Amino acid sequence: MKILLASSEVYPFSKTGGLADMVGALGVALAEAGHEARIVTPLYRGIREKFPALRKVDWNFYLPLGDKFVAGQLWELDYAPRLKIYFIEQPEFFDRAGIYHEKNISYPDNDTRYLFFSKCVVHLARYLPWQPDIVHGHDWQTGLVPALILQAKREGWGDAPRTCLTIHNLAYQGVFPKAVFALTNLAPDFFTPSGAEFFGFLNCLKAGIAFADIITTVSPRYAREITTEEFGCGLDGFLRTHAGKLTGILNGVDYAEWNTEKNRHLFKPYSVTQLAGKKINKRELQRQLALPVNEKIPLFGTISRLAEQKGVDIQLAALEEMLQADLQFCVLGSGSPEFERGYRELARRNPDKVAVRIGYDETLAHRIEAGCDFFLMPSRFEPCGLNQMYSLRYGTIPIVRATGGLDDSVVDYAESSKKMNGIKFYDYSARALAKAIRKAMAIYPNAELLKKFRQNGMRVDFSWKTTVRDYVKAYNSTNPPSSKLNITNIVRL
Ligand code: ADP
Ligand code: GLC
Repeated sequence: MKILLASSEVYPFSKTGGLADMVGALGVALAEAGHEARIVTPLYRGIREKFPALRKVDWNFYLPLGDKFVAGQLWELDYAPRLKIYFIEQPEFFDRAGIYHEKNISYPDNDTRYLFFSKCVVHLARYLPWQPDIVHGHDWQTGLVPALILQAKREGWGDAPRTCLTIHNLAYQGVFPKAVFALTNLAPDFFTPSGAEFFGFLNCLKAGIAFADIITTVSPRYAREITTEEFGCGLDGFLRTHAGKLTGILNGVDYAEWNTEKNRHLFKPYSVTQLAGKKINKRELQRQLALPVNEKIPLFGTISRLAEQKGVDIQLAALEEMLQADLQFCVLGSGSPEFERGYRELARRNPDKVAVRIGYDETLAHRIEAGCDFFLMPSRFEPCGLNQMYSLRYGTIPIVRATGGLDDSVVDYAESSKKMNGIKFYDYSARALAKAIRKAMAIYPNAELLKKFRQNGMRVDFSWKTTVRDYVKAYNSTNPPSSKLNITNIVRL
C-alpha cells in the first residue's frame, strides 16, 4: 500500500509529546512491513541544520487561504528504505522558536498555519507523481484534510485517496471563529452541524471525524471512553454517530529507540536476565540529580507535559503526604507555570527527597526511565500514553490510573498474580494515588516480588508489528471510493 502520513510533529525532526514518537515510528514500521510510506510535516526552525541531507525539491506552490495566496516550498529526505519525509517550508508560519507556542502562549495564527499545512498535504497527495492509496492525518492540525479531499473529488479528482484520521487527544480540537472557515475555501455545505460546525465555530477535529473514511484512536479503551459524556469533550454524541468507522489501536513502542541494551543515553546497559546494570543507572541518576545516593530508598519518577490531563494536582497532593516516608521522587517536565511552581516548591521544602528538572531533555528522560524503581502516571485521562510502556521495558514499575491506554497496557496484581507488571488505581484522587504509592513501598523491600514485577514488564512486547497489522487492516476496511457509495447505500436501505 502507499500511505501518506501527515502530522504537525514527527520524531526525530520535531517533538512536543507522544504524537511525534507515534507518527515517526508508524512510518518506519509501515515501511519495514513492505508498504511505501511517506510522511509530510512542517519544516520548523533548526531541522535543516540538524539534518543536512534534506534536499530542496524543485517544486514551490501557491495555495489559497480565502482570497489570499500563500507560497510553500517542498523539501525531502530519504529517511529509510521505502520511507521518504516531506517538509513544507513556509518561513513566516514555521520558522519560529516554538512549534505551537512560545512562553506558554499559543501562536495566535495556529488556525492559518495548520490550515495551510493541511492544504499542502492535499496538494501533495494530488500532484505528486507518487499517488497514495491512503492519506492518514493526525489530530486537529490535519483535521480538515478529509474535507479538502472530498471537495477536490467533487471538483473532478477521480481517483482520490481514502482518508484516515487518528485522534491522539480529543481535548485538543482546533476550534476557531466562524470567519476562519472562509480561509478553507470549502463549499458552505461543509459548515453544518453534521460537518465542520460546532456551536457556530469551526471545529477542525470534528470536520475530520465527519469526513474521514476511517477514524482511529490510540487505545481500545480510549475509543470506548470518547463516546461517553465524561471523556467526550463535547463530541461524544457526534462520535457515537460515527462509531461504525471508529477503532482503537494501541500504539507500539519503538524499541530501537527505547531499549536498555544499546542506548547511548544510559550509564550502563542491562536486560531482563542481567538486571544488575539497573542499579548502576539508579546510582548515577541519584548522583546527577543531587539526591542522596542510596540503593535502599525507592526512587519514583515522572516525565510529562505538565498539563491538567496528566494528574499533576493529585500527584502533588499525594506526594505531600507520602514524602513523610523514606522515598525519593524526581520529575522532568514543562508546561503550566502553576504546576512548574508546585513541583519547584515541593523540591525546595524537601531537597533531600525531591529533584525537579523543568525543561525538555531526551537523555534525562531515558535515564529517569532506567534509574527509577517506579514510574508515576496518575492521568485524569490518557489516550494511550507511551511512558508507561517505556517503563515496562526498562524494568521500572508503572503506577497508573486505570484509564485509556494506561489501563490497556499495564497489568495489576488484582488482574493477574502471574502476569502483573504494574500498580493501578481507579479513583481520580490524591488518596487513591497515595494508596498505590504505599503498595509500591510494600513491594520494594521484597526482592523476589520486585524482580517478578520487573521481569514481567520487561518481557511484554508492544512492538510495532502488531500495531501496523491493525492499521493496515483498518486502511483496508475502507472500500475503494468507487464501490463505497453503493455498498453503504445498500446497507442503509
Ligand atoms: P503526551 O503525548 O500526552 O505528552 P505520551 O506518554 O504519549 O504523552 O508521550 C510523551 C513523550 O514525550 C514521551 O516520549 C516522553 O518521554 C516525552 N517527554 C515529555 N516531556 C518530556 C520532557 N520534559 N523531556 C523529554 N521528554 C519528554
Ligand atoms: C497524545 C496523548 C497520549 C498518546 C500520544 C501518542 O499526546 O496524550 O496519551 O500516547 O498522543 O498517541
